[in-house]
Amino acid sequence: MIISSAADYREAARRRLPRFLFDYIDGGAGAERTLAANMADLQSVTLRQRVMQGVAGVDLSTQWLGVAADLPVLIAPIGMSGMFARRGEVQGARAAAKKGVPFILSTLSVCPLEEVVAASARPIWLQLYMLKDRGFMENMLARARAAGIEHLVFTVDLPALGLRYRDAHSGMAGPFAPQRRLSQALAKPAWAYDVGLMGRPHALGNVAAYLGGAMKQKNYLRDIAANVDPTLDWSTLDWVRARWPGRIILKGVLDEADARDAVRCGVEAIIVSNHGGRQLDGAPSVARMLPRIADAVGDDLLLLADSGARSGLDVLRLLALGAKGVALGRAYAYALAAAGQGGVENMLDIFAAELRVGMMLCGVGEAKGVGRGILIPKIDGSAP
Ligand code: GLV
Repeated sequence: MIISSAADYREAARRRLPRFLFDYIDGGAGAERTLAANMADLQSVTLRQRVMQGVAGVDLSTQWLGVAADLPVLIAPIGMSGMFARRGEVQGARAAAKKGVPFILSTLSVCPLEEVVAASARPIWLQLYMLKDRGFMENMLARARAAGIEHLVFTVDLPALGLRYRDAHSGMAGPFAPQRRLSQALAKPAWAYDVGLMGRPHALGNVAAYLGGAMKQKNYLRDIAANVDPTLDWSTLDWVRARWPGRIILKGVLDEADARDAVRCGVEAIIVSNHGGRQLDGAPSVARMLPRIADAVGDDLLLLADSGARSGLDVLRLLALGAKGVALGRAYAYALAAAGQGGVENMLDIFAAELRVGMMLCGVGEAKGVGRGILIPKIDGSAP
């Protein structure tokens, strides 16, 4: 099949994966209204075409949190990616390193952090879900430090797991789930051999020892729901900070008041996110909230963003709305599932080309310098 965009990778992933895995990546919470709004609101952001701006030397590179990146992009943490491709997190991290962007490993990855660190030529970042057993979490942070990880992405928008009805229908959860997953896997022999058979072990590598086996890939959603810590509050950040000398980035902030609190609590960076529409269905899109958050915190907080970016033009839009970098979740997962490391590298090349051409046609020379000046107000005259 011809691949020219992330949409093509989505279709290729749909063809290759058993349905329960494709729907897990592709789906969102509830009626998927927030998932749809993320994309619709972002795509309705209109870019200002300029001419005669002398844009021969476009520079996509950037720098944040002590890290230089060749693109203003990060690979978002996705649980279970080792089921999308053989040792999927290793392939994803290698692709990110090759293309010069940070790779954020999920707490709920298949490959343990030590395996991914050893395989990647560039330091990886670790995403943290706070599980109820603090002793275990303390040990996991110590493992990450021992492996040389310096960036911790603390996800704060999952005190409870969003209700995702697609997963019940697909066999990811719901009645007769194991039997349904097996028959779906047998219907996708290329995946069944490459990942199902050769990609073992499939345990959730970072948390396999949690409470004597309370977090299993087999009962993934049920086990997350049972073990995430709903007591999280701002004091939890102090608990993490006391055990993490490196950088901490809060992921999942979507409201100005929370962003202001983050500044007050000494946070350096947040990822403005609604978890790709997978948590609160009915929450506003990131495109809608990002400019408000940017106005509320000014230069006091580094804003990264995710949720809704399916092209380099979407990255450009999010930069214009106030983000300094954009994390790619589904676009990454589709490419990984479709074609492994090579697919992710190609996906990043596609995003880079889309971003470069978009910047040139908007007359901007530096990704670092993108701002609201490249946006056109809505037809009714309201802000972009
Ligand atoms: C877990 O983080 C999920 O979004 O499925």
